[in-house]
Amino acid sequence: MTARLIDGISIAARVRSEVTVGVSKLLKDSGITPGLATVLVGDNVASETYVRAKRKACAEVGIESFGHVLSSSATQSEVVDLIRDLNVDSQVHGILVQLPLPDDINEEEVLALISIEKDVDGFHPVNIGKLGMKGREPLFVPCTPDGCMRLLQESGAEFPGANAVVLGRSNIVGLPAAMLLLKRNATLTVCHSGTRDLPEVCRQADILIAAVGRPEMVKGDWIKPGAFVIDVGINNKWVSHTADREFLCVSSGETFIAHHQDLSENGGRKRVGYIDKDSGDVYSRDHLPEGIDVEGLVKLFRKNRLVGDVDFDEVKEVAGHITPVPGGVGPMTIAQLLSNTLRSAQALADK
Ligand code: GUN
Repeated sequence: MTARLIDGISIAARVRSEVTVGVSKLLKDSGITPGLATVLVGDNVASETYVRAKRKACAEVGIESFGHVLSSSATQSEVVDLIRDLNVDSQVHGILVQLPLPDDINEEEVLALISIEKDVDGFHPVNIGKLGMKGREPLFVPCTPDGCMRLLQESGAEFPGANAVVLGRSNIVGLPAAMLLLKRNATLTVCHSGTRDLPEVCRQADILIAAVGRPEMVKGDWIKPGAFVIDVGINNKWVSHTADREFLCVSSGETFIAHHQDLSENGGRKRVGYIDKDSGDVYSRDHLPEGIDVEGLVKLFRKNRLVGDVDFDEVKEVAGHITPVPGGVGPMTIAQLLSNTLRSAQALADK
């Protein structure tokens, strides 16, 4: 491995401990406890997980969080009324509307309604607009791209004149990351699904931020030697593991020693099979002995692993610095949110 690891966990821990100190100082000096309102609409499992993690992190640094959950059948006016209430709630210094919202909720209207002083996610059009404009400074910057910039800064990246390539142009990550790089005088290229010869464009990058949601898309030969590579992707990858396993036939109580076998050569179609090591009988997934818990069996042989948008094993051999997944950008998103919420409460105290 040639690349140095950019350790998001320890950099995020440092940000969090700075926030913890700031929170207690604010309370001592002004009697203010920073408050974050989270708004979760619908039942997106990933969003529920993220919001839970954000609220837990708030508790750990002394920020009070107020969780608001609306069902997937909530109407636009219910969401709007909630935001209006939070805008005038003196205990709330930051409002976080977890995205994506359900399809029938107008995201643009909701984000534009959040008071810019409480827009700790930085998605209000005024904050995003100022981020893109020369000579203007937003009150808040979106947490994930801001976290990426901090990781780059802390690992010694130089921005002025560097070739920076951003893969992806989402409102949440790619676009604001691009604007931040431009603000730091990098020479910027933003790539998307229409970009021609992506590997060649990436090879020009001194700084590469990958935020496309495609597992392990960025390969080793896309990388300029010594580049800084920031991997924002969090993708599930099912990997099979081939070690022998014991499993139970629920109806007969027999146990089998099974191992994973690729049966695709026999049938053409890609299939996975299980072989009873004692009898030698081979079973495809669709023709197991009666009573076997197919799902349980499949789980025995397939493990879910988190991977980024970057093929870490290949890219680490070429890059100069690289973030791992997990443990890179992920922890920074929450740390920046805490930091923004504290700053919002401090601004109120200074008024
Ligand atoms: N969904 C995915 N990332 C984010 C984020 O940073 N903030 C919000 N509000 N929603 C998200």
